[in-house]
Amino acid sequence: MSASGSKLWGGRFGRPPDEVFYEFQRSFPFDRRLLPYELKVNRAWTRAIEKAGLLTAAEAASILGALDQIEARAASDRDWAQNSDAEDVHHFVESALVELIGPTGWKVHTGRSRNDLVATDFRLFVRDAVASTRHATAQLIASLLEQAKQHESVPMPGMTHLQHAQPILFAHFLLAHVEGFFRDIDRLETARRAAAECPLGAAALAGTAFPIDRAALAQELGFEGPTANSLDSVSARDFALDYLYALSVLATHLSRLSEDMVLFASSEFAFATPGDEHSTGSSIMPQKKNPDAWELIRGKTARATSALFGLLATLKGLPTGYQRDLQEDKEPVFAAHDQTLAGVQVAAGAVATMQVNETRLREAAGDPALLATEAADFLVLRGLPFRRAHEVVGKIVREAERSGQPWTSLPLDKLRSFSPLFDETLSQALSVDSAVAARDVEGGTAPARVREAIARCRERLNRLEASA
Ligand code: ARG
Repeated sequence: MSASGSKLWGGRFGRPPDEVFYEFQRSFPFDRRLLPYELKVNRAWTRAIEKAGLLTAAEAASILGALDQIEARAASDRDWAQNSDAEDVHHFVESALVELIGPTGWKVHTGRSRNDLVATDFRLFVRDAVASTRHATAQLIASLLEQAKQHESVPMPGMTHLQHAQPILFAHFLLAHVEGFFRDIDRLETARRAAAECPLGAAALAGTAFPIDRAALAQELGFEGPTANSLDSVSARDFALDYLYALSVLATHLSRLSEDMVLFASSEFAFATPGDEHSTGSSIMPQKKNPDAWELIRGKTARATSALFGLLATLKGLPTGYQRDLQEDKEPVFAAHDQTLAGVQVAAGAVATMQVNETRLREAAGDPALLATEAADFLVLRGLPFRRAHEVVGKIVREAERSGQPWTSLPLDKLRSFSPLFDETLSQALSVDSAVAARDVEGGTAPARVREAIARCRERLNRLEASA
């Protein structure tokens, strides 16, 4: 059975389409991915037009039976769609129906257009795609929380400008990434809501001319209701843009996590080693263990962002109504979805299998430079304005640098020559533990706050998973 049969629109043409042009305008090579949605939408539409008196019960039953057969064949015979020369997924299904049951098959296209069909199929795809990406993102958050729990009390050098700044807990660092991924889940939800209304019944642009219960149709397809304006229904692709935006930010977050992990895997940092499961070797240098999982996740981010820019550019100059340019909406969304979803899944695994080097983290957190703020705060607590305290400690650090020793090993009387406010209690303030413990504010890195934060994130994750 060839799916294409006759064209969908031959009547007013004297000559067949140019072969090169026919290939150029086909979307079936990529929109066949929408086949499950096309079949679902065809089933709902068949029942809707039967209710509207446009099909007899027998015709509707025959169409529904044929749709089941198409589904079964598409599942068992992969070459069928592969080898078809159908123009698009709508043409493929209609032609297959006609081959199975004759002219009754054509009746399914009563009162509708490929314009409202494609908008409906694509929204259904985006809603499912959001659900898978959201699920994978929740798993990535779970992996990060697990590592945070495992290494709950390990300090590390917190950095700004990639320079040692102040000590923080390694778990606090992981939780910073977790917050971003939670916001990604919110953005994914926004994208799902943007695709929550059903365009079916908008027909080509003006609305169907038959008495279709659009609300019932929308409900049957799992939408929240019908779209409000038929012309907007066939023109709008904001739901695709919203999903691409959510994916772009998610991919950007993944990329930044990747950058941290690539740095951490270097011998200079050596904070965490990627698991063998998520590394590759070199074909020439036997010692190499490369963090390719993270590098590729970082590299593939460009696909999501370029898909967003690409679709924005496609949509920018279009007049209102369906324009064939809109067929260009699907490939960028498929590509961004596939690459980002895979990236999230790989990241969840790579976080779980990485070996955290606690000894090295503690050693790096022991850099005395990280405690300079503590000395300034010590002076502030004894009444010195912070600007002055900052200057005093800056001078001490400079002096120590000149003499080539850590500033924390300068004797107390030397320190007192910079400020008489220093006394023997200073040494208690100058430890990694007390520096971390001092950040005891909401959102701070003090151990108790971090423990609470892990617990709160876990609860939030459980609530999310329960509501999915
Ligand atoms: N393949 C088309 C698309 O993806 C389906 C809609 C075609 N509509 C039309 N009026 N030619 O957009």
